[in-house]
Amino acid sequence: MADFHGKNLTLWMRCAVNLAELSEQRKRRVYGRRQGRPLHASRQEAIDNLLPVLEIPRDMLFEDKKLSLEKLFGVTPKKLHVEIGFGSGEHLDLLMESHPDDFFIGAEPYINGMSAFLKTIENKPHDHVRVLMDDALLILNSLPDSCVDFIYVLNPDPWPKSRHHKRRIISQENLNVFARVMKNNAQLLETTDVDDLAEWMVTQTINHGAFEWHAQSAQDWKTPPPNWSATRYESKGQQAGRSQTYLLFTRKARESL
Ligand SMILES: C[S@@+](CC[C@H](N)C(=O)[O-])C[C@H]1O[C@@H](n2cnc3c(N)ncnc32)[C@H](O)[C@@H]1O
Repeated sequence: MADFHGKNLTLWMRCAVNLAELSEQRKRRVYGRRQGRPLHASRQEAIDNLLPVLEIPRDMLFEDKKLSLEKLFGVTPKKLHVEIGFGSGEHLDLLMESHPDDFFIGAEPYINGMSAFLKTIENKPHDHVRVLMDDALLILNSLPDSCVDFIYVLNPDPWPKSRHHKRRIISQENLNVFARVMKNNAQLLETTDVDDLAEWMVTQTINHGAFEWHAQSAQDWKTPPPNWSATRYESKGQQAGRSQTYLLFTRKARESL
């Protein structure tokens, strides 16, 4: 009995420490808005009904104990796509439609974006997707090694002031995490319509060493991937005269490093 209590206490203490760690990470990593306009009733309904079903349980998010994808999806995904900061989820929705056999994880801390995505998919097949309304790094840090086939970072927040550059999602620290979870030859797509950020992302990603950039000329980074459909955010930028940069990298095979 004493042993039982002892084990429970240890477990409880571990959870408490991990929860404290999680909220520390959250404070550190998610910047910007989590809520804007009040939600329309139908969006709130999508949050109430679908988020509890599709959100990755918090007790799976421990850096020191990697989560089981089999437990999360009910099967081991052959192909796994991860989208970081999916906004209203237009890109993720299209990916799900065009790759019905693949599996998807999307993170978006902004409730208005999450509700838009859940509303879009509520009447479509959605068994293959899991979401997190929080910092994408919480889930990426919990994923096992070499399990992801595609990572998408589309139009991340630019944080233009130099003193805020450390908040940019493409950083050496986060690229270490991407490199760990990506399979050999997996793909990383980064896009932006902010020229200074495009330069930052290329430099950070090439300098990291685990990623290869195959672009030969401006034509390559100005041309969207095949079957591309611009998100509302991207279209607005184009209407305002900004041009989009598409940076596609491959995770180098570990044996070649
Ligand atoms: C400029 S918006 C782009 C949205 C979408 N990717 C698109 O291209 O339309 C950037 C998004 O990243 C989200 N974001 C910022 N930091 C994040 C983080 N640490 N994890 C996940 N999402 C994040 C923001 O909430 C915001 O919705």
